[in-house]
Amino acid sequence: MSFDFNGTVAVVTGAASGIGRASAIRFAEEGCDVIVSDINDDGGKEVVAEIEALGRKAQYIHTDVAKRSEIEDLVAASIDWQGHCDLFHSNAGIGMGGAPQAIPVEEWEKVLDINLHSHIWTVRKLLPHMLERGSGRLVHTASSAGTIGFAMLIPYTVTKFGVVGLCESLASYVADRGLGVHVVCPLLVNTNIFDRSWNYPEDGSEVVDEKFQEQVRTIFREAGMAPEGVAASIVDAINGDHLYVFPHPELKQMIEAKWADPDAFVRNAAVQWQMQQEAAKALSGS
Ligand SMILES: NC(=O)c1ccc[n+]([C@@H]2O[C@H](COP(=O)([O-])OP(=O)(O)OC[C@H]3O[C@@H](n4cnc5c(N)ncnc54)[C@H](O)[C@@H]3O)[C@@H](O)[C@H]2O)c1
Repeated sequence: MSFDFNGTVAVVTGAASGIGRASAIRFAEEGCDVIVSDINDDGGKEVVAEIEALGRKAQYIHTDVAKRSEIEDLVAASIDWQGHCDLFHSNAGIGMGGAPQAIPVEEWEKVLDINLHSHIWTVRKLLPHMLERGSGRLVHTASSAGTIGFAMLIPYTVTKFGVVGLCESLASYVADRGLGVHVVCPLLVNTNIFDRSWNYPEDGSEVVDEKFQEQVRTIFREAGMAPEGVAASIVDAINGDHLYVFPHPELKQMIEAKWADPDAFVRNAAVQWQMQQEAAKALSGS
């Protein structure tokens, strides 16, 4: 099932920064007109200007994906714009980790709303339009954390497994009806996500360990793939009609190792988690 980007309307959430920005620009380069959506209005409008400079039409729509009504309005506006919405990339997300018992209920709800419910509300609102037209592509940013558990990122992992489950099931549901589903599962990408990530230690302390934060930022900067690499993998997956988008091929090997012996995989992950905690303690000098 081929997809011709030319003359289509694409929507990207969380498009002011990182992976969303790169995918909005790449979709424009492929021939789409693009609706850039975010809560960072200045950043989003800059991306609109970059897309217009490429000769494509673009508009910015402020959308807090944590709010179902705002997502529904975004989907409706995207269809109204040119009469069709062809490609929707649900991408906005935040990081959250820490001790599950220490994370306030409101924070659990926030990460579930932004990282998971937003994907469901989009599909719910957009699917009738795409099914009626018998065409369209749904791209969902999950994560490697949607395929493998991470003790330091339990709430994040919960949401990303949910997105992967949604996409894998949806892909079967819409098969042979002209639609394509693509779930993006990167390892580390050099973006600003860590600036919008929260961590709740077991002792309930709220002191931000700046030294540790800076170390993690450095890891993202130095070890992270460029977001443009993720956008290129998304376009390849759309062209090749692949459900899973693995910008880092080594993730596929990690998943294979997990299912070859899941108990051994989790035991090994537990040892690594202990080592990470020791290293973090050593770093903060406690
Ligand atoms: N950076 C990584 O290593 C990595 C790895 C795997 C998956 N991801 C996923 O990629 C996606 C994009 O993140 P990124 O790494 O580009 O980070 P980023 O922080 O650079 O970009 C995220 C964008 O989402 C926006 N956003 C945050 N909350 C929002 C809300 N409530 N409503 C609308 N927009 C909101 C932010 O303003 C920002 O522009 C996320 O879903 C993230 O979980 C990132």
